[in-house]
Amino acid sequence: MSYPYQIKSLEQYHEVYKKSVTQPEAFWAEIAEYFLWKKKWDKVLDWNFKEPKIQWFRGATLNITENCLDRHLQENGNTTAIIFEPNNPSEKSISLSYKELHFRVMQFANVLKNNCVKKGDRVLIYMGMIPELAIAVLACARLGAVHSVVFGGFSAQSISDRLHDAKAEFIITCDGAFRGEKIIPLKNVIDDALVNCDFVKKVIVVERTQTPVSMLKQRDLWWHEEIKKVELQGNPFCEAEEMNAEDILFILYTSGSTGKPKGVVHTCAGYMVWANYTFVNVFQYQKNQVYFCTADVGWITGHSYILYGPLSAGATTLMFEGIPTFPDAGRFWDIVDKHQVNILYTAPTAIRSLMSFGLAPLRNKNLSSLKVLGTVGEPINEEAWHWYDKNIGKEKCPIVDTWWQTETGGIMISNLAGITPAKPSYATLPLPGVQPILVDETGNEIVGNNVSGNLCMKFPWPGMLRTTYGDHERCRQTYFSTYENLYFTGDGCLRDADGNYRITGRVDDVLNVSGHRIGTAEVENAINMHNGVVESAVVGYPHDIKGQGIYAYVIFSGGLNDADLMRKDILQTVTRIIGAIAKPDKIQFVSGLPKTRSGKIMRRILRKIAEGETENLGDTTTLLDPNVVGDIKNGKI
Ligand code: WTA
Repeated sequence: MSYPYQIKSLEQYHEVYKKSVTQPEAFWAEIAEYFLWKKKWDKVLDWNFKEPKIQWFRGATLNITENCLDRHLQENGNTTAIIFEPNNPSEKSISLSYKELHFRVMQFANVLKNNCVKKGDRVLIYMGMIPELAIAVLACARLGAVHSVVFGGFSAQSISDRLHDAKAEFIITCDGAFRGEKIIPLKNVIDDALVNCDFVKKVIVVERTQTPVSMLKQRDLWWHEEIKKVELQGNPFCEAEEMNAEDILFILYTSGSTGKPKGVVHTCAGYMVWANYTFVNVFQYQKNQVYFCTADVGWITGHSYILYGPLSAGATTLMFEGIPTFPDAGRFWDIVDKHQVNILYTAPTAIRSLMSFGLAPLRNKNLSSLKVLGTVGEPINEEAWHWYDKNIGKEKCPIVDTWWQTETGGIMISNLAGITPAKPSYATLPLPGVQPILVDETGNEIVGNNVSGNLCMKFPWPGMLRTTYGDHERCRQTYFSTYENLYFTGDGCLRDADGNYRITGRVDDVLNVSGHRIGTAEVENAINMHNGVVESAVVGYPHDIKGQGIYAYVIFSGGLNDADLMRKDILQTVTRIIGAIAKPDKIQFVSGLPKTRSGKIMRRILRKIAEGETENLGDTTTLLDPNVVGDIKNGKI
């Protein structure tokens, strides 16, 4: 594959950007010509941010898997599509060519068909990072079934909530997942989740860890046995369902400032074009390069930049099952050398964590195959940026700092590797099609440079979310009602003298812990489930490795005989309700919370105390009981 729309110089970037703003429809129509359509569009874009209604390539029909698989077969059928690197380095890695991946996707799509999965059905996927996960996702897309991947760190309760919200009748999972030294018993978690979900008809289970599982008659099926049945049927072909441009491709749940995660909906055509266009341009992917994104497919980064972006571009994408520190903190670098990785895309939290091991894990690592580095998920501090640049990129690899969100579908603000300049800790410039604007609290545009404000978008781009599943009003309220006619990102941002953007972090009650989004309200709800808890308030505080840590203030009823035991109990409750990723790093028991007379918790004060600030807490006179603040500061209960 070559990419005629790959931007090759700074001047060209400026030209292309200008066209994308002045003639967006002509611009995207031209890009869309490079994809495989069953039928072309009648209208490139129809939109308003009021409802909101966003339609790209209306009237077109397509199947994204034909773009990710079939169209590569003739010329690149033997190119490696996926390299699978297992958790345990002594286990053999696996390569799947485009031909093989195509075959296996069709085969599993036939399994799904045999089990009555059809277009529009929702399928929840809860798996480890193994090739079958990619196959499951693509097989759903092949049939037009809507996949909703849930990260393996979420609890049974979280799965059950998502199953109910999506009304998903089908599940694909594994017996277990290898994660460093541990085995996560995925099927057992699914069984717990299904106690109150009797609408689930089928659970297909991949055997990976040989973890003992109980298989319920009729409901639970082994992946390999179902594949055998398909083999016996003899016909390996599975037609790609003809999808409308705006049919749902997937739902991905993400946290917001309310207690309940929302199902972000992405549709077929716009998302495909966006994931591909941004992948090709930001990473400057060249034919036959090996690309390694360390994210999990359970997050949006894995959807767009392990699967759909690279595969639609005919790239070789590496899927890693394990963790950066197993068997030791040199694992990423071993993988880079072993598979001669050219492009590495990871999260600042991973960089900081590996930094903390010093340079020893880098000894005897070559890393000379690397050409481009990337980061995503949270602001990268300058120290980590320079460490990455010096020790991993050897000061010869451009680093792309990519800002985007689950809701944006793909990268929005980033330098283009080696094409537009990088600036440490800045995401830099908007990609073509992205029209950022900074506004103040009241929604007035902040013009000029050297300014900061809340980051919004004033024009749609193909990859943006279309709705939140089953609740369009919630989508409108969350993203389109804060400021009229703007999409509000929830992030604060500054723009430097040259027009570069630097994301400063969330301005709402969403935490970013190790690059994962967690709503404070969600964590509070979970803590409050503990029967000894009267009330709680959760805030973020700066954490050297995770970026942000979770700090919980908890009012406990009755006597606190054994605070340590209670802390453990609360951690367990949070793990059970949300998952281990949402466990507070610190729990402070308090007798009261700083509230205004109207009963609102003053989080600003709690945040300052969590940060270790004791003097400048700002105005506390509006508090119902100002003494509470002193007690909290002194750690008094
Ligand atoms: C933050 C992850 C600074 C931001 C793709 C955003 C970043 C949230 C960056 C979305 C970056 C992501 N610099 N902050 N390069 N990338 N963020 O939905 O606060 O998991 O709103 O998507 O992560 O997180 P999400």
